[in-house]
Amino acid sequence: MSMIADVPVKDLVKTYGTPLVVYDAGALRSRLKEFTENFQSDRFETGILYASKAFSCKAVLKLANEYGLYVDAVSCGEIHTALAAGYDPAKIVFHGNNKTADDLQYALTKGIGTIVVDNLMEAQLLDQMIRGTDHTIHTLVRVNPGISAHTHHYIVTGHVDSKFGISLLNESELVDTIRILKDNPNISFDGFHSHIGSQIFEKQAFVEEIRKLFETAADFREKYGISCNTMDFGGGFAAVYTEEDHPIPIKEVCDTILSTCTEEEDRLHTGIQKVLIEPGRSIVAEAGYNLYTVGFLKKTPNRSYVFVDGGMSDNIRPALYQAKYDAYIDGKETEPVKETMTVAGKCCESGDILIEAIDLPEVKSGDILVMKTCGAYGYAMASHYNKLPLPAVVFAEDGNHRTVIRRETFEHMIALEED
Ligand SMILES: Cc1ncc(COP(=O)(O)O)c(C=O)c1O
Repeated sequence: MSMIADVPVKDLVKTYGTPLVVYDAGALRSRLKEFTENFQSDRFETGILYASKAFSCKAVLKLANEYGLYVDAVSCGEIHTALAAGYDPAKIVFHGNNKTADDLQYALTKGIGTIVVDNLMEAQLLDQMIRGTDHTIHTLVRVNPGISAHTHHYIVTGHVDSKFGISLLNESELVDTIRILKDNPNISFDGFHSHIGSQIFEKQAFVEEIRKLFETAADFREKYGISCNTMDFGGGFAAVYTEEDHPIPIKEVCDTILSTCTEEEDRLHTGIQKVLIEPGRSIVAEAGYNLYTVGFLKKTPNRSYVFVDGGMSDNIRPALYQAKYDAYIDGKETEPVKETMTVAGKCCESGDILIEAIDLPEVKSGDILVMKTCGAYGYAMASHYNKLPLPAVVFAEDGNHRTVIRRETFEHMIALEED
């Protein structure tokens, strides 16, 4: 019998049904603590933003708030959720490559602290909207340093053709963007932001990113008299999905980032006072489990399938990125492997495969399959494909458990529909 946070998996299934998303809330706390304890510096003011796109709900945001994190939000919906969780709007940082006028107005009206300006047009729009009003806003400008961290192609955002940020190769657009922000008395231009990818295993990628941003800050001060005080290096810290994954420990990531910042500041004297990071996946991924009930089993000439009662509707990552996961059958963890199987979901799509190949013991209909490391970009990317209701989300901690998002009903799914 397996347990999550001292709660038997069987009890969770009996109480809430499947498919079910379960977070070990103690594991979430440990990760938050690990980041806050280690991202500290005598030299710089430091801040950690929880990248809420990884998993946004009031309960997780309340935890992040408890540990003093800021929030990275990429939509008004994410801002609304953070505010509903009790966040001080000043601690919300608004991202996104295509914020509409309505989005910006919403952020200004709600008193959001910082906007990460993605491009020249956004700077122009923000300038027009805020000039002469009572609103004030801090801004960072997202730059694309052209560093591509080693990760799957579709989740790399730092390459030169990325839709995010202004390429450092496009210096004139970057200067124009910053000048617009600096010339507006309601706007404070604080510095640069970049995010070079996700599920990054190499420290060197962050070192290169930091060097590039400090060099840019030094260069801009010298050439254009543009100074800045803040740098935000984004997220991208890896999580363990399978035994092939060996992420850099959080302490090491934090030490590397902060020591590189110190070295660069000693070398270049840019005037940077505050450094920020934006972890998402590394906070929530490993704390989350998806529980499924095994339905039918099927053999084809080349495969043995295990069908489960969820799929790409609650976890699209395997179909979208060929993301790999590990799983086990509840209560059979120590049983010998019987065969290599493919775990497939119940959606009407051939690509609805959750795990291509996994060694499993003898599996029977009615068994519970526990998929590990499902806490990031799983529920967050869930859809209603095939009109499957979204699963419930539960927090388990020290032998207790509680619902943090109720299971959707069929009625919820048609609630907004008109005849
Ligand atoms: C701007 C920005 N910050 C932070 C993150 C969080 O990244 P991760 O979940 O890999 O830490 C992302 C993810 O896409 C991002 O785009």
